[in-house]
Amino acid sequence: MTTTTDPSAPTIDALALLRGFVSLRRLASMYPPGHPVIAQKLDELYQIAQAHLQQSPTLTIDVIRGDVHLDGVVCRDDGTATATSQTIREMASLGVDSLHMTAGVERDEIRLAAEFLNQIQDNASGETLERRLAERGVSRISFGRIVPLDTRWRARQWPDAPTSPLDPLYAQSLQAAEQAFDTVASGGTLDAVTVRDLVQLLIGEVVRSNAALGQILALKEYENLTYCHSVNVAILSLLLARQLALDEATTFVLVEAALLHDIGKTRVPLDVVKKPGALNRAERKLIEAHTTFGAEILMETPGLHPIAPIVALEHHRGLQEQEIGYPDLGNGAVPHILSQIVAVADVYEAATGARAYREPLPPEHACLVLARKAGTKFNTALVKAFVNAISFFPLGSLVRTSRGETGVVIRTNPRDPLHPVLSLVSDDFERLLGDLDTSARDNAGAYERQIVSTLPAQERGLDLTRLLPSSGRLARSA
Ligand SMILES: [Fe+2]
Repeated sequence: MTTTTDPSAPTIDALALLRGFVSLRRLASMYPPGHPVIAQKLDELYQIAQAHLQQSPTLTIDVIRGDVHLDGVVCRDDGTATATSQTIREMASLGVDSLHMTAGVERDEIRLAAEFLNQIQDNASGETLERRLAERGVSRISFGRIVPLDTRWRARQWPDAPTSPLDPLYAQSLQAAEQAFDTVASGGTLDAVTVRDLVQLLIGEVVRSNAALGQILALKEYENLTYCHSVNVAILSLLLARQLALDEATTFVLVEAALLHDIGKTRVPLDVVKKPGALNRAERKLIEAHTTFGAEILMETPGLHPIAPIVALEHHRGLQEQEIGYPDLGNGAVPHILSQIVAVADVYEAATGARAYREPLPPEHACLVLARKAGTKFNTALVKAFVNAISFFPLGSLVRTSRGETGVVIRTNPRDPLHPVLSLVSDDFERLLGDLDTSARDNAGAYERQIVSTLPAQERGLDLTRLLPSSGRLARSA
């Protein structure tokens, strides 16, 4: 588990609280309510919760990708990783990622809420979680599921858009997309001609700019708003289309659909889109509705290809039942192949951007996220093609080697994507130190060096265009 140096770091043992809650649930199914074992566990939990609620009106524990967060701040490993991961698994099997308490919570509410976890999944009446808890006399505890996108870490306010200099064509695309999205958000109609011009700009120019591709592919130190995310997803979908050798007409339709896949978010209140931490049921439904909202908006826009609303509707749908996603389109509905492409690009883009509760993932880690869900959520062939299309270390990314060298990736080796060619830079990023092929091996046949990390964009403070004045230097190997 990661650590934090945040001054608002947790003051109580959230891991113990979570473990205690889950074990109280088990005890509640074994012993009667007044049993001493239950009373003792209840005391323990009540005291931990009170310690926090005396300082703060609410207590929120979220489990996000296996890490426990208290009020948005990741908790340190307290040496009980095995017990904690067992608890996290148990929570996940109940469909719960998040536990909220508010000040004034009573001992009995904790017991009743823990007991309720044993029945949380049989909900024949379709009642909301809040109502079911209220029926049991629990009003100050609730549970939730995390929607891992579109949230913001309270402790760290990421900028909404890139702050470093952008490739001019990419900047122009972002501006056009922002205008189009603003028009829809303020109740106007999407203009298909503007969309077409933007698609043409992306296909004809942006995708040819190595500087733009570097900025789109690399990790991003900002939590991008919908228009920014959409342009990036469109370009990533385009790279995948090229890799798959799709014809020009299909590629155009794909880029248009990718650009507009999240347009439905313009109908979701911004405070829900940006809400930190866990969403309640109603908020989650609203966020999920961006798919159907998007389909509606695009159906009503004259001049778009009919596939665009389908992609908006399906881009959060998976292939297999265990990763079926949303919205509910009935069993056996396989997403359109263009929806499947956008789904891959969407998740990669989201992972490489900063998010509410975590740093942006470097490209190679984002590829692992895709690989883990290949075959269930994503089409395996598309994931493979995508990883090949983007390469692990995109052109223009700044990396460090196992020998402590820092360099910019200027060429990728298609047969050896983990060992690109670098242009080495001095530690102060002021001087170029010559090119280096990291695929070089020693006499024993072992690699002389490995790429060990991708450096965050902000950290580098580096103007690539100055460092590499001729964009022609950045090239893919044939
Ligand atoms: Fe989406």
